[in-house]
Amino acid sequence: MFYFGVDYYPEHWPEERWPEDARLMAEAGFNVVRLAEFAWSRMEPKQGQYDFDWLDRAIDILTSHDIRVVLGTPTASPPPWLMARHPDSFRVREDGQRVTFGNRREYCPNNLVYREYTHRIVTRMAEHYADHPAVIGWQIDNEFGDRCYCPVCARAFQDWLRRRYGSLDELNEKWGTIFWSHVYTDWDQIPLPLETGGSPNPGLALDFFRFSSDSYVAYQQMQVDILREKCPEHFVTHNFHGFHYEGLNYFDLARDLDFVAWDNYQRTGWLLQAQVDPSYAALAHDAMRGLKRQNFWVMEQQAGQGGWEMVSVAPRPGELRLWAYQAIAHGADAVLFFRWRTARFGTEQYWHGLLDHDGHAGRRYQEIKRMGAEIKTIGERLVGSSVKPSVAMILSYDSRFAFQIQANNPGFSYPNHFHQVYRALHRRHVLVDVVAPTADLSSYQLVVAPALHVLPDAVAGNLKRFVAAGGVLVVTPRSGVKDEANAVVNQRLPGLLAELCGVEVEEYDSLGADMYNEVEFTLPELASHSPVAAKVWCDVLQPHGTTAIARYTQDYYAGKPAITLNRFGQGQVVYVGTVGDARLYEALVGWLLNLAGVQEILAVPRGVEVTERWQGDRLLFVLNHAEREQEVTLDGRYVDLLDGSAVLEGRAAVAPRDVLILLDEENAND
Ligand code: GAL
Repeated sequence: MFYFGVDYYPEHWPEERWPEDARLMAEAGFNVVRLAEFAWSRMEPKQGQYDFDWLDRAIDILTSHDIRVVLGTPTASPPPWLMARHPDSFRVREDGQRVTFGNRREYCPNNLVYREYTHRIVTRMAEHYADHPAVIGWQIDNEFGDRCYCPVCARAFQDWLRRRYGSLDELNEKWGTIFWSHVYTDWDQIPLPLETGGSPNPGLALDFFRFSSDSYVAYQQMQVDILREKCPEHFVTHNFHGFHYEGLNYFDLARDLDFVAWDNYQRTGWLLQAQVDPSYAALAHDAMRGLKRQNFWVMEQQAGQGGWEMVSVAPRPGELRLWAYQAIAHGADAVLFFRWRTARFGTEQYWHGLLDHDGHAGRRYQEIKRMGAEIKTIGERLVGSSVKPSVAMILSYDSRFAFQIQANNPGFSYPNHFHQVYRALHRRHVLVDVVAPTADLSSYQLVVAPALHVLPDAVAGNLKRFVAAGGVLVVTPRSGVKDEANAVVNQRLPGLLAELCGVEVEEYDSLGADMYNEVEFTLPELASHSPVAAKVWCDVLQPHGTTAIARYTQDYYAGKPAITLNRFGQGQVVYVGTVGDARLYEALVGWLLNLAGVQEILAVPRGVEVTERWQGDRLLFVLNHAEREQEVTLDGRYVDLLDGSAVLEGRAAVAPRDVLILLDEENAND
């Protein structure tokens, strides 16, 4: 079944309203709701006194409309009685301050007392709902994150280091603690990288970020284990933050879940934009799909204006439906809107749901109700189909953490750099998998590894194998700079990639915000592109039997190579030595796709996005993000699934913010 639904907080509304809510949900075509994820104080109002009656009644009403239930474990927002009794459970921030009660995500994941309470509430819920016919699965906690710097974590970090390094000699050596006389003679001396300690040793800081990530993975695992034991028939997932969340290694967090779910907001009160760039959500979908290389759920899909203190721009007519279809186009197997009805109280009283504060079902509800009717007709075709990209981008959390510690240049951000390259691919309508550095790359023709800063041997080996077998690899600046302990390698850069790239970084320049160089293309295939700006970082390259395909035009390294192309085994490697703006990546991507033999799915005007899902049948998604009607030229005969069974070929119009879901007649089973 394709799941289509909403996040519902019945505990926020009088019980008399629940039947009306369920009726409206059913009319909107919803077949699933997520419940209870912040309801700890209702389920355990006093220590050891559990109350699930209200939740049972809410579920009964939903069940009478054939709506299934995903339960959230409530551990992201502990009740006041718990935290008042155990103030040590509060997280400590990087500045050394313990957080106080008033928000959520305020606990320390390593605190044993908090873990015991977690164990009890999750066990009670799991026992109560294990055999409930309406319950299909669980979401653990809510958007894990926020590093804790408390004394319990300090001790746990020291133990973690002991397991990782075995001996202090090894740790001192790897971190280079001889610098500033930091040589540790007892594990107890190893500090947390608190702000009060100043700019930390990069080795210590990277290990602490890894440890913090492992702490949440372990905390989640405790809940996974309970749920697997008590509820073997149910799925277990967690709602991730998407690509832009920086604090956790999401590949690790995803490992023991049945699938990844994530929360997709394109308009929020923190950024009031007239236009939304669809490549942000596209990247997030691809990154979330890449965590397990498997389809995913959107557990929270924007349902209205987002906002806490500020109120976002209202989603324009058509956007909510379009964004939900975009998720499906990128591999979502379920979409739930956040939230059902806009809360009248609490921090999120401006985070709008499908219904208004007063329960009115207006424009937003009607838009999604239309989609609900469509999903009823096409849902079964979507189930089991998947996205099959021939391009991959490598996401390295070690590198990402290392750049959080040392950005190298104030204008450099790993996620923004990653997104810039992704956006150029997205604009050419090729599908992209975002995968781990050690992923099997054999199914791809083109792999881009942006700023692979921390580079273990195994990853360098993986890239070499990919290229040797005929793949095209793209490497960008600051790759191969660090070993796993976050020390700079004792080699010419790009270190372990130097031979593969056929290049040496002779020297590098880190540019101020008001500085730029320029890159001019020398390769005939690229010569039609006028020179583009080089910003932030310039590697001055020394090719070794490699073709220079672009060179700098300014400053003391004018004429020196900026981008090179190397042949290695059956494949080729492009080293891009600078950070450009969109024009650099757009110029390169067109050429790279040719080089790698990757076809764009369909050539369409800007503002239109195209993806495909396969299951024998080929489904083509054409999403018009523009405010005006656009025309696309189809490459064959297609059945328009949203418009009954009209057959389209040649030119097809797509209304503003509308979508076509087309069944390819040549690749259809029936
Ligand atoms: C999500 C979170 C929800 C809600 C929403 C709006 O990140 O999971 O609980 O807070 O944002 O702020």
